[in-house]
Amino acid sequence: MTFRSGRHFLQLPGPTNVPDRILRAMDRPPIDHRGPEFGELGKRILLGLKEVFRASEHVFVYPASGSGAWEAALVNTLSPGDRVVRYDNGHFCATWGAVACSLGLTVDVLPWDWRRPVDPAVLEEHLGGDKDHQIKAVLVTHNETSTGVMGDIPGLRAAIDRAGHPALFLVDAVSSLCAMELLHDDWGIDVTISGSQKGLMLPPGLSFAAVSPKALDAHRTAGLPRSYFDWSAMLRANESGYFPYTPATNLLFGLAESLTMLGEEGRENTLKRHARLAKATRAAVAAWGLENFCLEESGFSSAQTTVKMPDGTDADGLRNIILERFDMSLGSGLGKLKGEVFRIGHLGDINELMVAGTLCGVEMGLELAGVPHSPGGVQAALAVWSTEGEDA
Ligand SMILES: Cc1ncc(COP(=O)(O)O)c(C=O)c1O
Repeated sequence: MTFRSGRHFLQLPGPTNVPDRILRAMDRPPIDHRGPEFGELGKRILLGLKEVFRASEHVFVYPASGSGAWEAALVNTLSPGDRVVRYDNGHFCATWGAVACSLGLTVDVLPWDWRRPVDPAVLEEHLGGDKDHQIKAVLVTHNETSTGVMGDIPGLRAAIDRAGHPALFLVDAVSSLCAMELLHDDWGIDVTISGSQKGLMLPPGLSFAAVSPKALDAHRTAGLPRSYFDWSAMLRANESGYFPYTPATNLLFGLAESLTMLGEEGRENTLKRHARLAKATRAAVAAWGLENFCLEESGFSSAQTTVKMPDGTDADGLRNIILERFDMSLGSGLGKLKGEVFRIGHLGDINELMVAGTLCGVEMGLELAGVPHSPGGVQAALAVWSTEGEDA
């Protein structure tokens, strides 16, 4: 490995930069996970997570990546042969659907343009046609990380209600939590899942599932086999702040610090900061003359910006040049978008100067890679912050 001075720029839409405060909080020996100190830690974390998700019932924590919470949401609420529905709006929604298939569920897929936010009316029509209510759950991504397009979660909830359909509403907020508003209770979500390595500023390794009373009811009769992810044992142990098996204690030390930091910044400020960084990034992309992959403003993501490459150019070639020359990692195109887009993560522990540095790296990379573009993207981003300040 070539020696690299300075800090690596990890500008993926997750894992994100882990702040020193969190690294230090984790840098200690594990404690007895059945002892009194742990019980207090567990109770504090479980309470803090309810605030972050705005979920009054319960938030489950698993020593698993986000995919674990996908599985947890399905096996705890559904039975073999149940039907679920999802849009074809991106790689992560497709992968969640594939998990459902492998568990023996039947998945209806609503065709969709990956570049646009999903239209709730399409879901309403599909559910309206399911007269005998065979569809048991709707699976959607809030921020579809492969495309950088945000879904209208309240609008989708309203569509389910207008169709008068009892399906459970399962939402993937892996990359939206703490970057964009997410109100589990108020938006009528039954299971909201997320992961540690994005807006929560932690390393990968924890996942979460916030649940509604309706989801807990479904769990009592759901017939899919489950063991590790079973909510019953977890609920019993969580009552006193413990877990039914050895938890990822040091990640939980980090999570406690993350919740403290989020509290210090304040929810509104965290969301505004993300919106401000995203707006400037979009200004840079527009000034370069490149396309934001997301074609509609209502779908713009505060967590990331996905950039479409001009025809005949290769996003992975560009990313490699930027990595080699400037030691910066950008997100790759996933699934059918491989080589066609790159993704700039601007979520988690990040500020204006970090985004400015990121955009400098991209602009220099575009030049070095010979990608047709106009200069001035960085200037355009700086102008957003300097003219609009905190209100940008
Ligand atoms: C929206 C979304 N859902 C699910 C996942 C899967 O999470 P993990 O890779 O942590 O298992 C990711 C990962 O980036 C994601 O962005």
